[in-house]
Amino acid sequence: MFEISVQTYAHKSIVISLQELFLEAMNEQDFGIKEIISHAKEYGFVYPSSEIYDGLQAVYDYGPYGAELKNNLKNLWWQAMVKLNENVVGLDAAIFMHPLTWKASGHVDSFNDPMIDNKDSKKRYRADVLLEDKAAELATNGSQDKADALLKEMGKLLDAENLEGVRQLIIDNEIACPISGTLNWTEVRQFNLMFSTQIGSVADDANNIYLRPETAQGIFVNFLNVQKTARQKIPFGIAQIGKAFRNEIVARQFIFRMREFEQMEMQFFIRPGEEMEWYEHWKQIRLKWHRALGIPNEDLRFHDHDKLAHYANAAVDIEFKFPFGFKEVEGIHSRTDFDLGNHQELSRKKMQYFDPTINKNYVPYVIETSAGADRLFFMLLCNGFKQVTAGAEAHQKQRTFLKFHPALAPVKAAILPLVKKDGLPEIGRKIFEDLKYDFNLIYEDAQSIGKRYTRQDLIGTPFCIAVDHQTKEDETVTIRHRDTMEQERVKISALKGIIEKEVSLKNIFREL
Ligand code: GAP
Repeated sequence: MFEISVQTYAHKSIVISLQELFLEAMNEQDFGIKEIISHAKEYGFVYPSSEIYDGLQAVYDYGPYGAELKNNLKNLWWQAMVKLNENVVGLDAAIFMHPLTWKASGHVDSFNDPMIDNKDSKKRYRADVLLEDKAAELATNGSQDKADALLKEMGKLLDAENLEGVRQLIIDNEIACPISGTLNWTEVRQFNLMFSTQIGSVADDANNIYLRPETAQGIFVNFLNVQKTARQKIPFGIAQIGKAFRNEIVARQFIFRMREFEQMEMQFFIRPGEEMEWYEHWKQIRLKWHRALGIPNEDLRFHDHDKLAHYANAAVDIEFKFPFGFKEVEGIHSRTDFDLGNHQELSRKKMQYFDPTINKNYVPYVIETSAGADRLFFMLLCNGFKQVTAGAEAHQKQRTFLKFHPALAPVKAAILPLVKKDGLPEIGRKIFEDLKYDFNLIYEDAQSIGKRYTRQDLIGTPFCIAVDHQTKEDETVTIRHRDTMEQERVKISALKGIIEKEVSLKNIFREL
């Protein structure tokens, strides 16, 4: 276990203790998530940012195995979007964009969260999250109708920007602050989530720019560049992976809600009027993709938005059943011509497409698929974290392993000579050298084989290859399978084919 610091500093609002960062990361409730968060830190997946200074709230770093897992995830998304779809192409746009971008997109005026403070605890909350949590509690206690009515009323009030009404709804439903337990709430205020900074050396207002709060706008402003240079015809999509930044109010949920995070977004440009067809199409494709990662069907669901974002005429979330409940991992939005239309107006540059099949110019409509790489990473951790009882009755003990799909696993195989003598390390090294160009591997010859198996289980390595004395006689090794702990004896020459079959992306793509 890592040490817990309770130091505080003058700039306390951004610096919090490790205890807050990890153990109380899930709103001071257990939900069985503590072990997963500790495991992520302990075994090199996720660290608090600048930990030596006690961390920075809602900012995290990925360790050696976390970086591999995240890269595999992003690669899988990229391949599924760009490689499998002839009419989807990639883009890598800059984080900084002209400030008018965010005026056109509506983020300057509408990218707000309604926040409320408790006067006794001095804690700040998102008003809509307090109401959503109350609705979830009502639903869990069998009052689904009341929960639905509460969410509907909240949606109505937020749409009408009736913030006093939102406050009253919180009080009427006796939603108390979890810390102070009181209903002593301030008024509800809107809080813009964009980070701003200055570009250039002169710090005046004209140089204020934003860190992008979504990657999508880089795609919109490049729509015609990409369409022309990649010679695409509508319908076509542009995919991008990149960092996004939001000054989240409630930022205590580990990597679920971060201030710096990564999005994997695709904007699909279509003919106006065809949006519902394509919306349904991408909903199904994206759900299948999550299943293909090894997430059981029953842990995934669609959730229609109660309150539509300022740009959408239809929106749905794909939710995963985290230990703390079903939560959004990806959004699918029908964004109409909102973004391209506004960019056209503000930039005074045509954002139109000439459609040769109907002989007409138009501003395309857009279906967006928007997944958070960090949230999907968290989903993979929660789904993969297994604690089971293993061994014969007399020697049963708890076994922990990470059950990642082999194509996503950070390390594909570990090469483990049984003993560090008798020529076994030399054979192991040769296997490692032969396979290292194809797979991410670990070679280890210290400590007992049991301990080494355990270490690989803890980082989710699907295959452990043991070199023993029989290897010297018949050029065979054993493969131990992570999930079942079963072992099979195979020829060294067959290793590449066996691992390749399991870890190749093709294995996943066949299910798409
Ligand atoms: N371009 C549309 C858009 O940004 P969103 O629903 O605000 O839509 C899309 O975000 C996805 O980005 C979410 O489903 C989530 O996975 C991820 N995401 C959003 N805010 C996040 C945050 N603060 N931390 C981590 N991931 C976040």
